[in-house]
Amino acid sequence: MAEVDLLRALPKVARNIRQRESGKSDEVIAIAKQFGEDYFDGAREYGYGGYRYDGRWVPVARDIVAHFSLKPGMRILDVGCAKGFLVKDLMQVCPGLEAFGIDISDYALAHCAPEAAERLQRASADALPFPDGSFDAILSINTIHNLDREGCRRALTEMMRVVRQPEKAFVQVDAFRTSAEKKLFESWCLTALTYLTPDEWVALFAEAGYRGDYNWTILETAG
Ligand SMILES: C[S@@+](CC[C@H](N)C(=O)[O-])C[C@H]1O[C@@H](n2cnc3c(N)ncnc32)[C@H](O)[C@@H]1O
Repeated sequence: MAEVDLLRALPKVARNIRQRESGKSDEVIAIAKQFGEDYFDGAREYGYGGYRYDGRWVPVARDIVAHFSLKPGMRILDVGCAKGFLVKDLMQVCPGLEAFGIDISDYALAHCAPEAAERLQRASADALPFPDGSFDAILSINTIHNLDREGCRRALTEMMRVVRQPEKAFVQVDAFRTSAEKKLFESWCLTALTYLTPDEWVALFAEAGYRGDYNWTILETAG
């Protein structure tokens, strides 16, 4: 179990936190939480402001393959795969790797990368539709914090159930270290129900029996 930055190759995303905060309302939050067209491909106030394939996950996929020593014929699951871009890129950088994804969003799955379409299905992170020990590796990036604390616990336990070796797992979740980071996060966040300090997350990992690697998505204050 270690803190590891598997997303280090992703370009940094520009966030206009003031603009997001001023546009936030109960209605905007309710729309974002549907994880539909508005969240992925609508205006930035509802979420991504356009979630399109641009190859940015290719180097991340390479790092994941190296980190877990993945080989052709092995199976990996992306929990919260959205449009399946990482699933597609994992199979591209490691031909023969069997990559799969689940997501709660009908919209994302209906607009997924065609190369991944047959490997994606609709499911919730806290009830994975796979038998025990189905995968050689499992990851979940910026997804499980959309469940409440008990849902996060179930999702982490589910990840451990469907992976063969508990250390072949990675989860990235929203976190804050200081009250300033918490405030910044609350100004930005639309969908997360559970955001904790790293120590609180580590305690939740222990509660859930999660023994994989992890990292935090933290919005940092300038200066
Ligand atoms: C911030 S996006 C992250 C998507 C992708 N992992 C990435 O990093 O680009 C959050 C994703 O979690 C999905 N999601 C939200 N609640 C979920 C749940 N209970 N089970 C599975 N996926 C969920 C959303 O549909 C969305 O695709």
